[in-house]
Amino acid sequence: MRQKIVAGNWKMNKTYSEALSLAAEIGNYIEQNPLADHQHVVLCVPAIYVVDAEQETSSIDNLWVGAQNCHYKDSGAFTGEISAQMLQSVGVKYVIIGHSERREYFNETNNLLKQKVDNALANGLKVIFCCGESLKTREKNDYKEWIEEQLTESLFHLSMPQLLNVAIAYEPIWAIGTGKTASPEQAQEVHEHIRYLMMNIYGAATANKVPILYGGSCNPANAATLFAQPDIDGGLIGGASLKIDDFAAIIKAMP
Ligand code: 13P
Repeated sequence: MRQKIVAGNWKMNKTYSEALSLAAEIGNYIEQNPLADHQHVVLCVPAIYVVDAEQETSSIDNLWVGAQNCHYKDSGAFTGEISAQMLQSVGVKYVIIGHSERREYFNETNNLLKQKVDNALANGLKVIFCCGESLKTREKNDYKEWIEEQLTESLFHLSMPQLLNVAIAYEPIWAIGTGKTASPEQAQEVHEHIRYLMMNIYGAATANKVPILYGGSCNPANAATLFAQPDIDGGLIGGASLKIDDFAAIIKAMP
């Protein structure tokens, strides 16, 4: 069975004590409802909390801490930045790369993201790589080409073994934080296309191993129907990952 992942992207939310209480609550939930071998839950907390969140959750099987970004170099004069090497050194397992908010507000290009992906993988992190189109691109019916370009320019140079340390997250920008979820059919169409693109380059065996997550207004009411689609392998959750009851319900919906 393909790896399934429910990852919470906390974005720039929560104070220290709030963050640690939420991490502890999620830990307790998973202790009482253990994850299967093929299921991972990832908490992509603000970077300042990764060390404590890691300590809080390290004893719980298949619960991991992730970061929301990293630099493309190991070290150097890059004031304010955090490297994949640093994240790895404190026990972080996953890093989100290419979130649409980083692309939009921090001008991250496909080429820069390619360098970040390479550096994160070289440092032993697993990458959750985000792609997805704007409303304008969707309305022009260009979304498949747009996503193909994002993946080709940042991801498809990887070797087969490298790609197996990547999960792809399809996050249509028009669905992020808007309450307007992609329908299960809309999401499945894109996920199937992403798998088809991988199949053409890497072959079916590899393409069938890469988890493809859906993100964008995923919540307890729609998670199970989305996750029931054949090419949807879990979710990257924003707003609903900040509340224990909602996040627990989404974890429960993971196949
Ligand atoms: P929402 O779940 O709040 O729409 O955010 C999705 C997202 O951006 C996760 O990375």
